[in-house]
Amino acid sequence: MRVIVCDNYEQVSAEAARIFAAQVYLKPDSVLGLATGSTPVGMYRILADMNKRGEISFKDCKSFNLDEYYPLAPDNDQSYRYFMNVNFFDHIDIDKANTRVPDGLAQDPEAACKAYDEAIDAAGGIDIQVLGIGQNGHIAFNEPDEKLICGTHLTSLTESTINANARFFEKKEDVPTRAVTMGMASILKAKTIILLANGKAKHRAIAELLDDTITTSNPSTLLKVHPNTIIICDREAYEG
Ligand code: GLP
Repeated sequence: MRVIVCDNYEQVSAEAARIFAAQVYLKPDSVLGLATGSTPVGMYRILADMNKRGEISFKDCKSFNLDEYYPLAPDNDQSYRYFMNVNFFDHIDIDKANTRVPDGLAQDPEAACKAYDEAIDAAGGIDIQVLGIGQNGHIAFNEPDEKLICGTHLTSLTESTINANARFFEKKEDVPTRAVTMGMASILKAKTIILLANGKAKHRAIAELLDDTITTSNPSTLLKVHPNTIIICDREAYEG
């Protein structure tokens, strides 16, 4: 695992954008694994600016997002589909038909999850996966647990995640208690992974990610077995 420690959030975003852009520049038809949350927003902005200046193009890329609240409609302004449109897709030249976010309204979630994993495989697998990290070490919505699930699946959110994400909703009761998420094996299959973190609140999770142990009580620690993961964090997340 390579670790890049930055002075601040702007630098985290710039470093992440540089690595992400290099991937797209070298392989214009890259399969992108994308994340929501506040952390990658700065990186998305920089990439959109590079796209506007003609430095990179996403027109041949395909993308798969990590997760989506369940049940929630894609046009709901709290959905991750909506978030991706507003923060990234609306500002770049990607063909929206080639962007996928798990279906927050799937009638048969199990079948939809299986189809999602098959679609990733059929696209050739994810070339670069962007990850944020929850305060409890969750990645996507793989929450700490005794057992973690390999493939895309429907899951329940922990109280800690509901509390952390309540800031995006009018009131805590509005936060959906379930979500569809890519599983740990789906994430670990990505060829390159970049995990972004900033702020003191992420320090405990990052400290565990950087020590010499693996535990399902901090799902991010499984990234230690991945051959090409880059952690990009600010000093506060790194040092506490
Ligand atoms: C949510 C998302 C995660 C994300 C996490 C951290 O729970 N499902 O993918 O990493 O939030 O969010 P933030 O970047 O806002 O701290």
